[in-house]
Amino acid sequence: MLGADRFYSRLGKTFEPGILTEVVLAAFELMKQGKRLISLTGGSYDPPSLPVGPVREVLEEAPVEAWREMLQYGSNMGSGALREGLARFMEGAGIRADPRTEVIVTTGSQQALDLASRLFIDPGDIIIVDSPTYLQALAAFKQFNPEFLSIPVDEEGMRLDLLERELRRLALEGRRPKLLYTVPSYHNPTTTVLSMERRRRILDLAEEYDFLILEDNPYGYISFEGPMPTPLKAMDRSGRVLYMSTFSKIISPGLRIGWIAARGEFIAKMAEAKSNIDICSDGLSQYVAAELLRRGFVERQIDHIIEVYRRKRDLMLEAMETRFPEGAEWAKPKGGLFIWVKMPRQVDTDEMLKEALKNGVAYIPGSNFFLDPNIRNYLRLNYSFPSEEDIVEGITILGRIFRGRL
Ligand SMILES: Cc1ncc(COP(=O)(O)O)c(C=O)c1O
Repeated sequence: MLGADRFYSRLGKTFEPGILTEVVLAAFELMKQGKRLISLTGGSYDPPSLPVGPVREVLEEAPVEAWREMLQYGSNMGSGALREGLARFMEGAGIRADPRTEVIVTTGSQQALDLASRLFIDPGDIIIVDSPTYLQALAAFKQFNPEFLSIPVDEEGMRLDLLERELRRLALEGRRPKLLYTVPSYHNPTTTVLSMERRRRILDLAEEYDFLILEDNPYGYISFEGPMPTPLKAMDRSGRVLYMSTFSKIISPGLRIGWIAARGEFIAKMAEAKSNIDICSDGLSQYVAAELLRRGFVERQIDHIIEVYRRKRDLMLEAMETRFPEGAEWAKPKGGLFIWVKMPRQVDTDEMLKEALKNGVAYIPGSNFFLDPNIRNYLRLNYSFPSEEDIVEGITILGRIFRGRL
């Protein structure tokens, strides 16, 4: 075999199998033994709720001209109809964006993270992140070698007292961060919501210390107790907030429809960066997304999926209540797709995953969401994807394993 290492770039060398790859491989292993894996890992959609009928209808009813547009190269900013639909959709959350210049369609919001990284991060630039935070955001940023400033999250979101302290310290050194990345509503993985007071303060701090805010809002729509919390973007007076969201959690992750709303000059640059990556987003998906928005299906589906996820959340919580060991702690999520669990200090959830996989259940060890690899007693559980039976069975198996360890 050809030794390949010497061919890799510095970036190429960093690509190693992540936790989700590991879980997929474990599932294959189990399948070979005629067993199956209950996955409480990623934020996949409830399979029976995927909009198979509505998507099929949209495509069956599409006129020939629409098909000709779908099958052609499109704009690097995204289809005009979809950008207009998204601008209207965001108005419902109080966000105003000109669909012609201030909205770009991305291939999933993961691409938005990549585009933002390309646009703003030079090696050594300071990027502020929640601790813990979305693992694939960290991975996207890491490609460009920033210095991370990791700020702990409590019940009200990012600890701004700690952030301020760090900002003052950096200012004394003559340094300032460039970008703050946060998931303010039903944060991944903790599901906390940044309080209104902190939302206002974070915008003030951005002014005072001159940094941009990348607001990632995939989960805000999945809100169990009232309307979606007001996005930072809706409160942004100076154009410092870049807002990103996605159809993945509300309609379908397979469509790969995400978007960014930001000031025109940022969007124009991102469009050029996107040309180098995929030229334009998928035409079929964009047409479907625009039509689902135009037909009012998206709002209806959000109402539906909230009910499905509320039931699944409650079922998982109920199962955990009786089966998880004493000393395990978690909060009832008010939105989103996950339950974030803290185990007693001596439990190493990375180690325990091996045992869980052998017993046919997968979760994401908390260490994946921290920059500090020594924090190993958390885990994230997903309730949107597994069936109701699998939720109960999965929690029963995990409860047994964790109780055995304590
Ligand atoms: C916080 C956050 N941002 C972005 C994404 C990326 O989602 P997608 O690329 O499917 O839009 C996810 C997916 O789980 C997420 O949790």
